Amino acid sequence: MMMDDEILHLLREKASNSLSGEEISHRLKVSRTAVWKRVKRLRSLGYEIEASTRSGYRLVRSPDLLTPSELKPILNTKWMGRMIHHFHTVDSTNSMAYQLALGGAQEGEVVIAEAQKKGKGRLGRYWFSPPSLNLYLSVILRPKIPPQQASLITLMAAVATADAIQKLSCLVPLIKWPNDILVKGRKVAGLLNEIHSEMDLIHFVILGIGVNLNMDRKMFPIGIRTKATSLKNEMGQKVSRKAFFSCLLEELERWYAIFLEEGGPPVLKAWRDRAQIKGRDVKVSSFGETLVGTAVDVDSDGALILETKDGKRKRVVAGDVEYSKRVES
Ligand code: BTN
Repeated sequence: MMMDDEILHLLREKASNSLSGEEISHRLKVSRTAVWKRVKRLRSLGYEIEASTRSGYRLVRSPDLLTPSELKPILNTKWMGRMIHHFHTVDSTNSMAYQLALGGAQEGEVVIAEAQKKGKGRLGRYWFSPPSLNLYLSVILRPKIPPQQASLITLMAAVATADAIQKLSCLVPLIKWPNDILVKGRKVAGLLNEIHSEMDLIHFVILGIGVNLNMDRKMFPIGIRTKATSLKNEMGQKVSRKAFFSCLLEELERWYAIFLEEGGPPVLKAWRDRAQIKGRDVKVSSFGETLVGTAVDVDSDGALILETKDGKRKRVVAGDVEYSKRVES
């Protein structure tokens, strides 16, 4: 444990009582000046710590920070997120997780950031990632499945994210192919999964998930303002990022276990229930081509099956979908 975490741990143990500087310095085997310096640093991060010469230090309030010391006490997963790499700012949590995975990071390790400078969206887009409002995280998975099944992991993660949103907000999100999560027709979360594999072996998958939690509508860049939303916008109240993180990881762990034990069918069923895509009139842009037709289904590899006006069936593996009518969830 880092010294900051150790001090917070000791203060939390004491709950509503104070702990003397002397006792902290004795327990951590550092000087009282060192303790005082750390307390000042913690205050600058938003921790409200009362200090009195008579009784010592008392933790009054913690900020909504996504540090391991804030997240671990509330996380109820068995293995996912037991190791959390927290950053105030990174280029992209996906890129950071990729590097860590190349260096041997284990399945279930999580990279989380308060802000991203170059947040990555699908199809080379940018994911708007301002500090301290939302959730930007990447989970490292090492599934023992053939690379052809990797897209099922994406569907699984979209289902888990939608379930977490519903649990925490009581809103009913809809999944838009391939993995946008919409609330009342607007995008609240997106997933970008990256895979490192050989022809017949997956080395690792990075599950990158961005959820707009506490952004106000006017904070979104103009170009996406009418298409995007946040849970706060839709619920009319602020969402605890810590509580959402914990709920999301529990859902991811649960759905990943279902996928590993039972394979694709339960994941596909849950995805189809959430997507309600069958029979929708859609316009799909894929690799510079625009296809118009009616969605027939999503196949067992996660590809979209489309029937065009002339009755031909097309299989789309990547792209963007527009529904002809606005969808309300
Ligand atoms: C999309 O809908 O275009 C996908 C957006 C994915 C954004 C998340 S935020 C955390 C992770 N790190 C990234 O750079 N991107 C993903």
